[in-house]
Amino acid sequence: MQAIYLVKFGNSKNAFEFRDIKPDKPKDDEVGIIVEASGINFADVVARLGNYRDCPPLPAIVGYEAVGRVDKIGKNVKSVKVGDRVLAFTRFGGYSQYVLQKENAIAKISENMDVGKALALATQYSTAFYACSVATNVLPNETVLIHAGAGGVGTALTQLCKLKNAKIYTTASSQKKLDYCKQQGADVCINYTEKDFSKEIKEPIDVAFDSLGADNFRKSYKVLNRGGRIVAYGASMMTDAHNLFTKAKMGAAFGVYHPAVFIMESRSLIGVNMLRIADYKPETLKYCMKQVIQLLEENKINPHVGKMYAAQDIAQAHDDMEARKTMGKIGIIW
Ligand SMILES: NC(=O)c1ccc[n+]([C@@H]2O[C@H](COP(=O)([O-])OP(=O)(O)OC[C@H]3O[C@@H](n4cnc5c(N)ncnc54)[C@H](OP(=O)(O)O)[C@@H]3O)[C@@H](O)[C@H]2O)c1
Repeated sequence: MQAIYLVKFGNSKNAFEFRDIKPDKPKDDEVGIIVEASGINFADVVARLGNYRDCPPLPAIVGYEAVGRVDKIGKNVKSVKVGDRVLAFTRFGGYSQYVLQKENAIAKISENMDVGKALALATQYSTAFYACSVATNVLPNETVLIHAGAGGVGTALTQLCKLKNAKIYTTASSQKKLDYCKQQGADVCINYTEKDFSKEIKEPIDVAFDSLGADNFRKSYKVLNRGGRIVAYGASMMTDAHNLFTKAKMGAAFGVYHPAVFIMESRSLIGVNMLRIADYKPETLKYCMKQVIQLLEENKINPHVGKMYAAQDIAQAHDDMEARKTMGKIGIIW
């Protein structure tokens, strides 16, 4: 059995090494899984570039999710049994043919669930569900703004907010992506590399979901309605900051906020980090995973699988994501 180790920060061609692994026995609350496919998230790209604080020291196995079959269970595990097909939210460790994970981050899935769609549910749909249903509770007819709408979390937010009958504004960087956003259910799609979205939007936004950071965050806050909520859950733009000066400049571009102003304007800023939720509120993560699994089983959502790569093509998959070429979910098949 093998795992893909991140051994060097930087260029994807030199970053990864396939190494043999000898899995440990699961602890009492753990499940051992023989992995069929592993998901790739933008956070993995950030980790590979050396910009992810939570990434374990190198050599490390990154990756937030895996689909596979239960091989062994610890003595306290009740919700799954050997042979079950499962989805695992892995706190790193996902790029591996064998995953050991706590029971509280694992959910059973059906035999016929498409593997790429299943991978989309662990991190991207669970994050989106947490953001729009737990953290902000988007209401019918509210206006929402979803940045990077063609991405994995963006697709999930669009489909979930559509289910809530919200009016959806999305942004993306190309016409192809805008067309895709429309197909996913967005009402208004804006190319934010060509136009200033904050000027294009002519009505107040009730809930903004920002994964880009820097001045994109500040502009999103600017278009918020009274009673509006803004969810900060990423800073993809910061990957363009290659030195301390540009990092500081982009950091300052977020803007400065004071609680008194939040009260006066009745606006809320909500930070979301699913790793922290997984660590400190595992029952909430499991709740989100179960909800999105059920929504897929009821055909209420339909994750888009951009591409499943062969595991050997991990560098190519990373390059495509970094170059903004991917839409929806991507992953690797073992
Ligand atoms: N806080 C959490 O718990 C949590 C959980 C999951 C994901 N996230 C965050 O959510 C965001 C989306 O994650 P994802 O895995 O679904 O990725 P993704 O959206 O599929 O891919 C990232 C997208 O970000 C946009 N982007 C903007 N600036 C970019 C840049 N400088 N370089 C590359 N892409 C850029 C691109 O879309 P356009 O071409 O349309 O600009 C790109 O396709 C990321 O910021 C990620 O870190 C956070």
